[in-house]
Amino acid sequence: MPSGEESWYARLFAKAYDPVMAQLEQAMLQELRRSLLAHARGRVLEIGAGTGANFPYYPPSAQVLATEPSAAMYKRAARTLPPSVSLLQAGVHSPVLSRQVPEGGFDTIVSTLVLCTVPDVARALADLYSWLAPSGQLLLLEHIHDRRQPQRSLQQWLSPIWRKAAAGCHLNRQTDMLVREAGFSPLEEEVHLTKWVPFYYGVYEKSRP
Ligand SMILES: C[S@@+](CC[C@H](N)C(=O)[O-])C[C@H]1O[C@@H](n2cnc3c(N)ncnc32)[C@H](O)[C@@H]1O
Repeated sequence: MPSGEESWYARLFAKAYDPVMAQLEQAMLQELRRSLLAHARGRVLEIGAGTGANFPYYPPSAQVLATEPSAAMYKRAARTLPPSVSLLQAGVHSPVLSRQVPEGGFDTIVSTLVLCTVPDVARALADLYSWLAPSGQLLLLEHIHDRRQPQRSLQQWLSPIWRKAAAGCHLNRQTDMLVREAGFSPLEEEVHLTKWVPFYYGVYEKSRP
């Protein structure tokens, strides 16, 4: 059972999430999720699973531990849980997760549209690095700070307001660079442009033991 009282805003965010994302999901994200999650194998950790948008795309052989800190999101994810996925209410910085997750314990780690929101992205990436097995892969789908103008300046300017409106989401994170700085090397990467936001798709391995 999910624990913790959440604000009306967190509950509204969880309720509105799927309807707000539906058009973008159909136009682009579902296909990217399908292609990304085809790489998932073995013991899989998903962070910030939200309403469970990735669940239909996991190969049946993957044993997935999906984690989500928000009680309202967790409740929605729990409704769509396939047999190979278990769900834990925890965020990346929480002691609950650190206790449950052994160092090098996962063959695949998945983050889709989450690293824009975690409060300390460098620390989160360091944790993901330590939780990933030496031969493991990190699968990422994240929106990133645009290199085009005027989008880049607009995202920079809007980010503080957007962070309040969209549950902590930063429009100006250069996650594609931060993930390299954390010690990951890309095996595949693509940038998919929409008019206002670029989406970054990456399959990574660890570059050092
Ligand atoms: C934009 S939603 C993305 C949900 C889902 N991953 C998807 O692809 O649709 C961001 C999610 O990150 C979660 N989140 C926020 N802070 C987090 C943290 N510190 N650790 C893990 N997840 C977090 C939120 O609760 C929310 O469910």
